[in-house]
Amino acid sequence: MSHEDFPTDEPAVVTCGLPYANGDLHIGHLRGYIGADAFSRALETLGQETAYVCGSDMHGTPVAVNAEQEGVDPEDFALDWHRQYEETFPKFNVEFDNYGHTHDETNVETTQEIVRTLDDEGYIYEKEIQVAYDPDADQYLPDRYVEGTCPYCGAKARGDECDEGCQRHLEPGEVEDPTSTITGNPAEYRERTHKFFEVSEFADFLTDFLDGLEGTSNARNQPRQWIEDGLQDWCITRDMDWGIDYPTADGEDESDLVLYVWVDAPIEYISSSKQYSERVGEDAFDWEQVWKGDGEIMHVIGRDIIQHHAIFWPAMLEGAGYNKPRGIAATGFITINGKGLSTSRNRAIWAKEYLEEGFHPDLLRYYLTTTGGLQQDVDFSWDAFQETVNGELVGTIGNFWYRSLLFAYRNYEGTPDADVSEEVRERIEGAIGDVRENVNDYSMRGVGGAATELAQFGNEYIQRNEPWKLDAESEDATQVIRDCVQIAKAVAVLLEPITPDKAQALWAQIGEDGDIADAHLEDALEAPPRDFDEPGELFEKIEDDRVDELTEKLEERVAAASDDGDEETESDESTDAEADGMSDTDDLEPLADERIGFEDFQELDVRVGRIESAEGIEGADDLARLEVDIGFETRQIVAGIKQLHDLEELPGEKCVLLANMEKAELFGVESNGMILAAGEEADLLTTHGDAAVGEKIK
Ligand code: 2FM
Ligand code: ZN
Repeated sequence: MSHEDFPTDEPAVVTCGLPYANGDLHIGHLRGYIGADAFSRALETLGQETAYVCGSDMHGTPVAVNAEQEGVDPEDFALDWHRQYEETFPKFNVEFDNYGHTHDETNVETTQEIVRTLDDEGYIYEKEIQVAYDPDADQYLPDRYVEGTCPYCGAKARGDECDEGCQRHLEPGEVEDPTSTITGNPAEYRERTHKFFEVSEFADFLTDFLDGLEGTSNARNQPRQWIEDGLQDWCITRDMDWGIDYPTADGEDESDLVLYVWVDAPIEYISSSKQYSERVGEDAFDWEQVWKGDGEIMHVIGRDIIQHHAIFWPAMLEGAGYNKPRGIAATGFITINGKGLSTSRNRAIWAKEYLEEGFHPDLLRYYLTTTGGLQQDVDFSWDAFQETVNGELVGTIGNFWYRSLLFAYRNYEGTPDADVSEEVRERIEGAIGDVRENVNDYSMRGVGGAATELAQFGNEYIQRNEPWKLDAESEDATQVIRDCVQIAKAVAVLLEPITPDKAQALWAQIGEDGDIADAHLEDALEAPPRDFDEPGELFEKIEDDRVDELTEKLEERVAAASDDGDEETESDESTDAEADGMSDTDDLEPLADERIGFEDFQELDVRVGRIESAEGIEGADDLARLEVDIGFETRQIVAGIKQLHDLEELPGEKCVLLANMEKAELFGVESNGMILAAGEEADLLTTHGDAAVGEKIK
């Protein structure tokens, strides 16, 4: 099913994965909330009625375990963090239309109502299962209270997720060699009766759903594989006190089970939409139209929670009679100086810290949205941040804005009297078209790119026409500056989703009234007001010694955290395992003792290639068939990367391959060469300059 392009006539909801209310926000969180905020703002510039809703994730073991460590009641603990998040997000210009939390009345009611419906519809059944139990603590061990080995990939895993390995959701009882995180003792398994949601019944529905799903390709491909492997039913209750009670029928005793946190968390997307409707009135925003009538639902999430959003959640929505998401955009992770973000190692940029350093939030917004595509991991270093700020924001956008407006102010006291030239009008129309296309592709990088390229065009345009060499009264000078003021205004309109404050400042500088957030893309072509005051510079360069100081500070605190030796005891974000590139040589293959001569090396015909196509090989779990252009010819190569890469994303990527590898046949498919890759995740080797396809690696 293909969807009508944005903007549609229907109201839309954009959500972002709820943060667990259990600790300080950092750059890893901000990437998602800023990305979704930019997406929601960008939809609005297209004229799409959009609500951006979210809330704090208050339940589950991620909150209970941390509260217990601090010796406080989980509700007080979570509420405290919730309030801090409410204050922090606006400081990054992340403006939710509603920010609730999963423990509020709306969500408790909505959750219980949905679970009751699923029960009434016959999708929930009881089953006796083995649940981990710690006899010393005399406590059942749901989720993060137990650790062990992932039965699928052998990595160290939490009770409900293979956070350091294959990222799968794990069912109670699945983790092997379970150990209690309370006492460190081996856990026992005990029999308990729990409630199960019949996800397996939804396999056909989910297959169709994924076929029509927009967003990033990883949100479709991984779930397709899981469906192919066979869906398991989902245990939706836990032996805990903290959570939403499993709803019982009237007259029955209260259940001693609470709902698994992943049941009530996504339901907050609905509850938060309801609260927004209640606040602004249904005429202004009708939650029911979005969730039950004709509306658009888009989720922005981290790629570690694809299974919850693309399998469990749509199945629940379908079973309970709600609309399903139109798009799921799953982002990559953040790395810091090339290593995995790690809160326990203090290798993170904390939200508070960033603000305390005095940087404007829009600088980080621009960096995080434009540095990599949504699916890619984005590395943050103060050096790279400086390069982006000084190069793109100061050098390209700020420079263009300031020089054109100053020239206009000094010579015309505002916008010169002339119509915009055909060339510039067409260029702005082109940029508007690019933004529209990128929003429809869920690419905020593309939106930012279209704005920056337009500013770059402005710089070239003013440089090419050299108005400073012309008589200001002349028609030519008037025309050039009139065009530049229009381009400056257009850049502001296009950039508003990414850098809302800076765009607003430019808006005011050219004498526009009101809020630029209310402007639509087409306003980029409307004439700016005639008069404006002397402009000021909107971006400031970051000096090298500042970057050195910040880098040193970061390194020192990472080193201090490692000296504390606490990294083994605290559990890190899933980003750690995936992106760390950690230097623990125990994990590496030992270096070869024997040396080889240069001639031996030359026998390896290693070439630069470009992947033309990539598809999974039927019947083979891990193998993909690639067509790789190596300059002289196109080679068919079989590589064990089916599970590790998003095959749809590979065409066009450069790679490095051993061209004189002996031919082999795998699953009946001939492999004529070998793609080179590093590590468990098959990180594909590539070149970073402009080495041509076919070039030999020497
Ligand atoms: O993984 C997490 O951080 C969860 N708190 C995300 C919940 S998203 C949703 F479904 F509510
Ligand atoms: Zn695993």
